[in-house]
Amino acid sequence: MFKDVFGTEPTISVSAPGRVNLLGEHTDYNGGFVFPTPLPYQTSIEAAEAEGIEAYAENFREHKSRGLGEARRGDWLDYIAGCLWVLHQQGYAVPGIRAYVRSQVPMSGGLSSSAALEVATLRALRELYQLPLNDVQIAQLAQQAEVRYVGVRCGIMDQMASSVGRLGFGLFLDTRDLTTRLVPLPSGYKVAVVDSGVPRRLAESGYNTRRSECEQACALLGVSSLRELSPADLPRINALAEPLNRRARHVVTENQRVLDGVQALEQGDIQRFGKLMVASHVSLRDNYEVSIPELDRLVEAELRHGAIGARLTGAGFGGSTVALVEETRYEEFKTGVLQDYPRAQFL
Ligand code: GLA
Repeated sequence: MFKDVFGTEPTISVSAPGRVNLLGEHTDYNGGFVFPTPLPYQTSIEAAEAEGIEAYAENFREHKSRGLGEARRGDWLDYIAGCLWVLHQQGYAVPGIRAYVRSQVPMSGGLSSSAALEVATLRALRELYQLPLNDVQIAQLAQQAEVRYVGVRCGIMDQMASSVGRLGFGLFLDTRDLTTRLVPLPSGYKVAVVDSGVPRRLAESGYNTRRSECEQACALLGVSSLRELSPADLPRINALAEPLNRRARHVVTENQRVLDGVQALEQGDIQRFGKLMVASHVSLRDNYEVSIPELDRLVEAELRHGAIGARLTGAGFGGSTVALVEETRYEEFKTGVLQDYPRAQFL
């Protein structure tokens, strides 16, 4: 508790969730469509006004502090310090924060524990200093903190899902203009999030390589963003050199899958949504090449044991899968998957 560490009562208490992405992978930094949903797991912060940055992370049992304007250090405090740094860049002269942080979001499973910490920090600062920020602005600042201070070139999906998403709804997000629509998730079905037990390997370098491959494809196709292309452009895309043709093909077809998937859910066609999830995994595996054999095996086991759809979720290279399963078949599904893939960790 805040009081045990800092000896006084906190002024405010806020939280923000992690996310799992249902459809639309590696499209957010291409101006495309995504469809994540928040997890019922939160990062919570109790906080008070302060001069400078001081925080205690319950998960690490670590107490750290840093002056405003100090550079990143490659630790968990970077996410908090980055939020203050970015607020200063935007002209909000907040003096600091004293924070007690507790996270239920599993770390390094690709479930956006970092976005949850950033959004929770910004929510805390908004409340402490009455900053005139709406939830979309919070997501934008959180992404800027991660890109410009922490140094990870992520898109905006995770921060938007955490800041704007609602439990029980998919967040249909157009990353080009940040317009959103909440789509109710079907009742009677469970979104199963399963960690492969393989930590993400080389995720950062692989992610950055994919981003620059997309930029190269844009330059060759004469567009400023792959979002400008549609499946009608596939002949042109397929004519690009390897592997740029497959990278761009993934992005363009994945955008279409999000549009089709949202429409399927709105029409109550869950089977169709499941098929699109599987097609997404196949494209991530064969075109975008961000899967690993363990994720493929886990997805296969999930489909074998009754999932309506399953795919890797997040950046790939390890981490988690997401599957849609009928609630009544969930226990049977879990037992079967664990038999075929004993390392599976169910969230
Ligand atoms: C990571 C990034 C997101 C997004 C996904 C891939 O989670 O943080 O912005 O690019 O990878 O869809």
